Amino acid sequence: MVARTIPVDPFDLVVFGATGDLARRKLLPALYQRLRAGQMPGEARVIGAARRDLGQDGFRALAAEALDQFVPTGDRTEAADTAFLAALHYVQVDVTGPGGWDDLRQLLGDEAERVRAFYLSVAPEFFEPICARLAELGIAPADSRIVVEKPFGHDLASARGLNAQLSRHYGEDQLFRIDHYLGKETVQNLMAIRFANALFEPLWNARHVDHVQITVAEAIGVEGRGGYYDQSGALRDMVQNHLIQLLCLTAMEPPAQFDPDAVRDEKLKVIRALDPIGPGEIARHTVRGQYRAGAGGAAYTADAANGESRTESFVAIRAHVANWRWSGTPFYLRTGKRLRARMSEIAVAFKDPPHSIFLGRAPDPHGNVLAIRLQPDEGITLSMTIKEPGPGGMRLIETPLDMTFARVMGNGDGASVRMPDAYERLIMDVIRGDQTLFMRGDEVEAAWAWTDPILAAWEAAGSAPTPYDSGGSGPEDALMLMHRDGRRWREIGL
Ligand code: NDP
Ligand code: BG6
Repeated sequence: MVARTIPVDPFDLVVFGATGDLARRKLLPALYQRLRAGQMPGEARVIGAARRDLGQDGFRALAAEALDQFVPTGDRTEAADTAFLAALHYVQVDVTGPGGWDDLRQLLGDEAERVRAFYLSVAPEFFEPICARLAELGIAPADSRIVVEKPFGHDLASARGLNAQLSRHYGEDQLFRIDHYLGKETVQNLMAIRFANALFEPLWNARHVDHVQITVAEAIGVEGRGGYYDQSGALRDMVQNHLIQLLCLTAMEPPAQFDPDAVRDEKLKVIRALDPIGPGEIARHTVRGQYRAGAGGAAYTADAANGESRTESFVAIRAHVANWRWSGTPFYLRTGKRLRARMSEIAVAFKDPPHSIFLGRAPDPHGNVLAIRLQPDEGITLSMTIKEPGPGGMRLIETPLDMTFARVMGNGDGASVRMPDAYERLIMDVIRGDQTLFMRGDEVEAAWAWTDPILAAWEAAGSAPTPYDSGGSGPEDALMLMHRDGRRWREIGL
């Protein structure tokens, strides 16, 4: 099956921080792939803006190097390389000072019919000076888009501050707050599965769902981002945004239509329905861990270059969505670095049948599990209990109905289809002006309002995170969090 590609309107995309890690690893490769797929029109321009004196040729050389490093060789063609590099422009701008802005204004010109977007791939303290300068120069008209990277604040107060800064210059309909997990193919498929099929929705509630497990496990450590990560930790870096977003899409009510505000209204209701976790609940409902040296590598304290660090690199939480649909069904969230494997999934575990006529012959427990796998091998499996083939009586086994997208959606020649990176979809959505997969300001604030008390309670408790082996499956306490409820985590990496 060949993916349908609908070209977007001609655009000028200004990337502040175009020489940085995110631009090189994700943004430039994503734009290249969209050009190769025929989605980026010939007239489109990508204007890199950064502090260093690179010049046009220097920026093109930097971009070519990024493509060599981050686009698989099989995806490269000479024609696409030439067209992509020709679409790149560069202006040297120090966003904290006056230099370079006139060059940017001149380069942008007065192309009113083009979509104009500004991607702030820089540290958050630069958002305000950039927004103020764009407004002052009049180069970000009312229909231009402003793309903001994470982290969106450090806590509720700073997120409110950022929202206030941005809203001084731009309407909410211009703001695209990135959570790249929302751009992942399977995450959108979760909405398709729930709301485009009649099969699951009648079962999607506390009467039929025993519990939900959301796991985002990484094999890598902090990888040179120790400075940032040590000030952040897994709760701020992963739970406040990515895991809460996954929880929202799993738990939300069907929106009246698939439109940005209808979807985001429903997600917001889920966040607001989360039971608060404060000092009285942290011991039973949360676990935080930090990796020590093991088969997977060195200790966190060595990676983060802070021998005294108490920052958590692992979190497990037992969350509860206190509403009519979910009352009594726990949502277990777990994320960590330097775990056994890279594995992210949402597993919806249905209850056992009310009465078993196969006593002693069925695997135990044998409730169906719908696993929505984000990575690796994006796809969906539904575990079913079936009869073991062959004579010899009625023995039951558990087997998965497997829909791995790359295989199922392949061209029928055995070759698998390429799954676009999240940034490819998200950048094209920015150009189209579709905010469905971007976080609204009130969602971000609600998520901080739920995570802040957890952070405060940990702080007040003064305890250190529990150590776990690098390359393992997380701290023992996380197993206990589930065992206490008579449940267990799904294996990481099997
Ligand atoms: P880097 O430190 O790698 O790059 C920073 C960029 O900002 C460089 O292009 C740098 O330009 C530019 N810059 C710094 N100071 C100025 C200035 N005064 N004027 C103009 N440009 C300036 O950061 P990342 O690319 O890693 O991250 C960018 C943003 O994206 C951050 O907010 C980060 O939190 C977020 N993010 C990053 C992720 C990642 O995987 N890297 C993942 C998710 C979010 P120059 O090189 O010329 O100095
Ligand atoms: C980022 C976090 O948002 O997501 C990183 O800051 C993390 O710490 C990354 O490694 C994980 O993204 P992915 O797409 O590789 O699962």
